[in-house]
Amino acid sequence: MHPAGGIMKTIIYYYTGTGNSLWTARLLAAEIGGAELYSMAGAENASASADADAVGLVFPVHIWGVPGLVIRFLEHLRPRPGTYCFAAAVNAGQVSRTLIQLKHLMRDRGLTLSAGFDVVLPSNYIPWGGPGPAERLEELYREARNKIVRSAGAVKNRERRPVDRGPLWQRIIFTALYKWTFGMVPKLDRDFWTDDKCNACGICEKVCPVGNIAIESGRPVWRHRCEQCLACIQWCPQEAIQYGKKTPAYDRYHHPEVKVKDVITRAG
Ligand SMILES: Cc1cc2nc3c(=O)[nH]c(=O)nc-3n(C[C@H](O)[C@H](O)[C@H](O)COP(=O)(O)O)c2cc1C
Repeated sequence: MHPAGGIMKTIIYYYTGTGNSLWTARLLAAEIGGAELYSMAGAENASASADADAVGLVFPVHIWGVPGLVIRFLEHLRPRPGTYCFAAAVNAGQVSRTLIQLKHLMRDRGLTLSAGFDVVLPSNYIPWGGPGPAERLEELYREARNKIVRSAGAVKNRERRPVDRGPLWQRIIFTALYKWTFGMVPKLDRDFWTDDKCNACGICEKVCPVGNIAIESGRPVWRHRCEQCLACIQWCPQEAIQYGKKTPAYDRYHHPEVKVKDVITRAG
């Protein structure tokens, strides 16, 4: 119960390219008990936080920091004063300084990030390769599940603690890389291309969280406001989208318990 006598309400906002963060958000919501889920891709969803007692943010780590879409979403978020805020930074083993950055971004907006959890799941960064062998993926899902259950317990207890962080060397070197590349992200879509398997089905257009893709003359075109979430290349049912030279040889990835329709309906 709420101190004023109402029902406690938790809202979790998520951003996902390939479903890892959506799966994390779902599991957190179930463990916390009946939390509501909203996509960060729809800025209008931010208003739902106005009558919440707790607000969570779940998103992937991109280039060792907070993705631009999450930073923009924060501008719309106005929970009541005193709302308990928590976050899960979903990543492939290098959370680096992401949650410290988020804490500072929130502080600048008058919000306190009381707990920030590092959740490690398979890599969706296909320019560097596929997700890895099946046994390793199973191990990652198992460990992530344990971490999420523990994190939900901390949220239920309204714990206040330092956010999870990577080692100091990572925070120094990778934060410099984040700052250097951040402004280039929207145009990194120049390296996407389609091979002859493309049948213009339009799934890429639909899964893009920012409407960056249009189908023109039977092929997708990327319009240089890319978030690099890689949903387009990873969800293409024909595996017809490529990035740079090496991806024809690499396995595609999305979380096995998340379906393409979940990402489409929740893209905003
Ligand atoms: C552009 C890009 C950059 C990434 N950078 C990092 C990173 O710095 N550290 C890390 O551990 N994982 C990184 N990853 C991997 C993702 O954070 C990880 O696979 C995450 O689980 C994907 O979540 P999603 O399925 O919800 O999109 C990156 C992925 C992408 C697409």
